[in-house]
Amino acid sequence: MELFDVYSLFDVTPVKALGCKVWDDKGQEYLDLYGGHAVISVGHSHPYYVAAITEQLGKIGFYSNSVVNPLQSELAHKLGKACGYEDYSLFLDNSGAESNENAMKLASFHTGKDRIIAFRKSFHGRTSGAVAVTDNPKIVSPFNANHKVTFCNLNDAAAVEAELAKGDVAGVIIEGIQGCGGINLPTEQFLQDLERLCHQYEAVLILDEIQSGYGRSGKFFAHQWAGIRPDIITMAKGIANGFPCGGILISPKFEAVKGMLGTTFGGNYLAMVAANAVLDIMEKENLVENALQVGEWIKANIPASPKIKEVRGRGLMLGIEFNEPVAPIRKALLFDKHIFTGVAGTNMVRLLAPLCLTMEQAKVFIDALKEVL
Ligand SMILES: Cc1ncc(COP(=O)(O)O)c(C=O)c1O
Repeated sequence: MELFDVYSLFDVTPVKALGCKVWDDKGQEYLDLYGGHAVISVGHSHPYYVAAITEQLGKIGFYSNSVVNPLQSELAHKLGKACGYEDYSLFLDNSGAESNENAMKLASFHTGKDRIIAFRKSFHGRTSGAVAVTDNPKIVSPFNANHKVTFCNLNDAAAVEAELAKGDVAGVIIEGIQGCGGINLPTEQFLQDLERLCHQYEAVLILDEIQSGYGRSGKFFAHQWAGIRPDIITMAKGIANGFPCGGILISPKFEAVKGMLGTTFGGNYLAMVAANAVLDIMEKENLVENALQVGEWIKANIPASPKIKEVRGRGLMLGIEFNEPVAPIRKALLFDKHIFTGVAGTNMVRLLAPLCLTMEQAKVFIDALKEVL
């Protein structure tokens, strides 16, 4: 049997990783500024994280959500403290798309309405509702296209209000910072307007922090730069440093009803020890602050070049937009300089490094970029 061939691959086979470094099967070392697509938060194979999962596996690896699992409450408690949402509750699932499905389902249950407002250039995942609120027709099948979704332009509060005023909108879903769409930031004013408008028209504000959350922007969640408190916050990626895990934070105004949400694997023991270890490491190593400092230094030190149009982003969620396709530059960074980077569209190099990236490693990247430009 062959693999279903849906991914474009670089010809690299990583076999080992530590911190922000990765080694391939030929022993070549790479600097990782991609973090496996914003997933590696506390660094690859952090010894504390590895020990936590290994130890748990020797005790109990899995049971269902029909029994008490104190590791889930431990995570809820720690996470509430770390992100400042101690009065919210936590529902645990397995991925980003599933978190957004659960958030939109909850918004619809809560309001009794069925339309969602999303934004142009959004990406929210590939499952049924999540892909329907994703602004990329190439990945929306006819089966997915029947959800009631309206796309507005980012930062256009008047357009959102006009839709909300129709009275049938269950929720508004927005990324803290648009990732796949090209590192586009909602303005602080726009996020504040969304909070006010959702309240006024009794719609649920859902902040997708799957890529921009968990410290990546230099605050725990990117929307916290705007000082707002959304009704639901969705998470995945960095939450467990690569162990599959997702979750949503739910405001106290939602009432839980037995059976309204559920999952087999969500909140399992191994994901929970991984997620608890991530928060312990983030706190101990001040990784949110580190992401801000190192990321801002990178942003300030991207060399001026006629090839570069703009640098956008916050913390360690950065996009370098070029005036030309970036494929040759990324290839040169990977195969000549041995640096992993990400991409958004054809003209943007996207940096999503582990939050533990050091200043020295940031400097290695800037020197390499100068040479390949
Ligand atoms: C903002 C955002 N939302 C949702 C998702 C989907 O997450 P997953 O691939 O875990 O389903 C992603 C993945 O890239 C994302 O960046």
